Amino acid sequence: RFAPRIFSGIQPSGGLTLGNYLGALKRFVEKQDEGIETVYCLVDLHAITVWQDPARLRHATREAAAGFIAAGIDPARSILFNQSQVTAHAELAWIFNCVTRIGWLNRMTQFKDKAGKNREAASAGLYVYPSLMAADIMAYHATHVPVGEDQKQHLELTRDVAIKFNHDYGVDFFPVVEPVIEGVATRVMSLRDGTRKMSKSDPSDMSRINLTDNADAIATKFRKARTDPDPLPETPEGLAGRAEAANLVNIYAALAGTTPAAVLAEFAGQGFGTFKPALADLAVAQLGPITAEMHRLMADPAEIDRTLGAGAERADAIAHPILEQVYDIVGM
Ligand code: ADP
Ligand code: NA
Repeated sequence: RFAPRIFSGIQPSGGLTLGNYLGALKRFVEKQDEGIETVYCLVDLHAITVWQDPARLRHATREAAAGFIAAGIDPARSILFNQSQVTAHAELAWIFNCVTRIGWLNRMTQFKDKAGKNREAASAGLYVYPSLMAADIMAYHATHVPVGEDQKQHLELTRDVAIKFNHDYGVDFFPVVEPVIEGVATRVMSLRDGTRKMSKSDPSDMSRINLTDNADAIATKFRKARTDPDPLPETPEGLAGRAEAANLVNIYAALAGTTPAAVLAEFAGQGFGTFKPALADLAVAQLGPITAEMHRLMADPAEIDRTLGAGAERADAIAHPILEQVYDIVGM
């Protein structure tokens, strides 16, 4: 009953990382190029669930938009916009705050990770983040959501919200979304700590590759990436218990568009002294043109703002009528 429509988003809470690129952005471009209707959002309302300097937020939003376009998102084919410009997100999130149960939110591991030890001092927005994410997706009746592994639990909550809303109001109004978590880079890890995901909000810049990093920075970060002294094994099974080594092999495979097995077939028996420079060269070859295009686009912020404004109008044309129907269903 629901036509396929893809929705996904990225927080403009800092520069885009290689994790965002491989786990999300590269996939967004593939989905667009498959000809499915694609709606991509810079989720600034999500970003302010933790403190954002206003000038940096504005800059990061434009930079993320430039990153999307440079990576291959065509604003004429995909809808690319900024969450705060389409009021349906915040309005539907309130309704979903009244559908979501506190017990569901208490199970969210991202809240626990981001709030840290002093949970009482976290913002209420960080706590209800998953309700807003459910609203982002359902304001478009999206059916499929490409994301990295870290968003799986939030998408399960989105499904629970859809099911409960439909059940409580006796309607078949919201599709129950399917997470699309595919590929070898669904969870790119920090270069400094194989137990943490690579994130734009990690305090250490050495932990991540940024889409704005130049060739020298990329080479240095991979050279200093934490690894073990053993050579690369012949098969992926040999990477068990070697999180940092497995991460670099996965990154290589994702950048090369191949499998970890194929990467190991090429590098088995070699040490990281050989593998890391090869990985850096591959990353520079793939990311260099994207970085250059981002810089070109960033030179004209007004044009980026116009692109986002036009995207917001198209997004609003879908989301607003859906919101009107929700108010009607709820009795408003
Ligand atoms: P960040 O942690 O960098 O702030 P976001 O919360 O903005 O990331 O996530 C945006 C998208 O990028 C989501 O689909 C998320 O699953 C994906 N993503 C984020 N970090 C990674 C990672 N390290 N590996 C793979 N995908 C990731
Ligand atoms: Na995040």
